[in-house]
Amino acid sequence: MARPRRPGVLPATLLLLFLAASAAAPWRQYGLAAVAAAPDGGGGFVGVNGTQFVMGSGGTKTVYFSGFNAYWLMLVASDPARRAKVVAAFRQASDHGLNLARTWAFSDGGETPLQVSPGVYDEAMFQGLDFVIAEARRHGIYLLLCLVNNFHDFGGKRQYVAWAREAGHGGLATADDFFNSTVVKGYYKDHVKAVLTRVNTVTGVAYREDPTILGWELMNEPRCDADPTGAMVQAWVEEMAPYVKSIDGDKHLVTAGLEGFYGAGAHESKDLNPWGIYYGTNYVGTHRAAGVDFATIHLYPDVWLWGSGAAAKLAFLRNWTRSHAAATELYLGKPLLVTEYGKFLWEGVAGANRTQRDRFLDLVLDSIYDSAAEGGPLVGGAFWQLLDPGMDTLRDGYEIILPEDRHAAGIIGNHSRQLAQLNGQDVDAVRRRRRRSARSRKVHVGSSGRSSSSDTRQLHMLLVRFISLFRSVSSLFSSV
Ligand SMILES: *[C@@H]1O[C@H](CO)[C@@H](O)[C@H](O)[C@H]1NC(C)=O
Ligand SMILES: *[C@@H]1O[C@H](CO)[C@@H](O)[C@H](O)[C@H]1NC(C)=O
Ligand SMILES: *[C@@H]1O[C@H](CO)[C@@H](O)[C@H](O)[C@H]1NC(C)=O
Ligand SMILES: *[C@@H]1O[C@H](CO)[C@@H](O)[C@H](O)[C@H]1NC(C)=O
Ligand SMILES: *[C@@H]1O[C@H](CO)[C@@H](O)[C@H](O)[C@H]1NC(C)=O
Repeated sequence: MARPRRPGVLPATLLLLFLAASAAAPWRQYGLAAVAAAPDGGGGFVGVNGTQFVMGSGGTKTVYFSGFNAYWLMLVASDPARRAKVVAAFRQASDHGLNLARTWAFSDGGETPLQVSPGVYDEAMFQGLDFVIAEARRHGIYLLLCLVNNFHDFGGKRQYVAWAREAGHGGLATADDFFNSTVVKGYYKDHVKAVLTRVNTVTGVAYREDPTILGWELMNEPRCDADPTGAMVQAWVEEMAPYVKSIDGDKHLVTAGLEGFYGAGAHESKDLNPWGIYYGTNYVGTHRAAGVDFATIHLYPDVWLWGSGAAAKLAFLRNWTRSHAAATELYLGKPLLVTEYGKFLWEGVAGANRTQRDRFLDLVLDSIYDSAAEGGPLVGGAFWQLLDPGMDTLRDGYEIILPEDRHAAGIIGNHSRQLAQLNGQDVDAVRRRRRRSARSRKVHVGSSGRSSSSDTRQLHMLLVRFISLFRSVSSLFSSV
């Protein structure tokens, strides 16, 4: 999987222009007026009305999200010498009509921490996050900020539990104690408070007051082996979502960060989970929790259906998006975002060629557009992951480098423009239209009745762990 290194293309001119501009009038440059570049032109917080995101005064105009993931933004921006990468990423994104970036507002312990130890923060890293938020605002891009990781990358729940153990607290057995230890929950709440009350050193705006932020994601991909029923994650979300809102003053939206695996509760379609696996989360149940404003799913047919043929992966993709859209509309009445979707593009790996990757993008983006155009609950997404040219150490096979990948850039740019044309509709009109068409629409809440042996299940778990390990190893060696 080693790749030839390419020399970094440093946009020196851009950097100079940027430095000149920010030296001249940093305050004005990052002022609220910049948010007018955002879809509504109104500069307010994004809200939710039924299954739609809304903007503007009174919150009656719809807004849709064409987004990307770039977990590395804060890390790279923490080094002022590398900030041009962050500027370039936002510029490329806005050139392609992208209006949402999902990124990490955490890095717990380890070699490049935001949170060095409970309640102790690295100021350079925080200033990196300040810069990211300021740049997002300047480019009219909303941010979905994630507050902790389920996995070991950048610390995660395991680091939190280790901190509690090091502080002498007993009774902590596994990383899943993150979800129910009083001490660890206290650490997490302190982190929430530290991030939300942070005053941005670039813009002067407290994070909790900043409309650039679409919302807070409680955790990246919560999973809990310790409690397959989903009750532990459920209780954690029920405690943390209202807590975030209490610090935030209920200005921003909150979501749990789920991948969409169904569990065992009411209205769950567990048979649709790849390989019949479940991970201690309930898609419907947990998204119903008070304080959770919108639902999320992730979509990785290659990893989740490792070894299956293209047709099976395609069928899965369709079922996964359709069943979640249907369940979201019927049982949640909230908007739904595909906050991560990705397909390997590794030359030489069977089933991972560019044609297939582009077809995957087309399919996902079409399903988002079709839903949005019909007033459905699936109203946006964010691909995994956007890189700038020359960031070879962060390549993971899923990267999309817009300036180097004209076809993917065309698909994404076209989708963004198409989706943006739906912005600004009256939410009531959308709802009325939806009700009228519901009579003729056939709703699928599919269940495949498929089963799988525990052997294949375990093999799949191993593969998923291998991929996370690969991701963490590559992030360890990430000098950009
Ligand atoms: C947390 O859950 C685990 C697994 O169910 C259990 O062993 C442990 O006792 C619980 N801890 C607390 C503090 O409730
Ligand atoms: C990519 O894969 C598809 C389906 O397997 C195949 O039809 C096509 O020829 C491949 N394209 C290239 C450029 O290898
Ligand atoms: C994007 O849209 C333009 C204009 O409709 C079209 O010419 C082009 O082929 C599209 N690009 C892709 C990759 O679909
Ligand atoms: C949704 O919008 C309608 C008007 O378009 C309004 O009457 C209703 O109160 C709104 N609901 C919420 C929860 O904001
Ligand atoms: C998709 O859903 C249909 C209908 O519910 C079912 O027959 C089929 O097995 C499902 N396929 C997959 C790959 O989940």
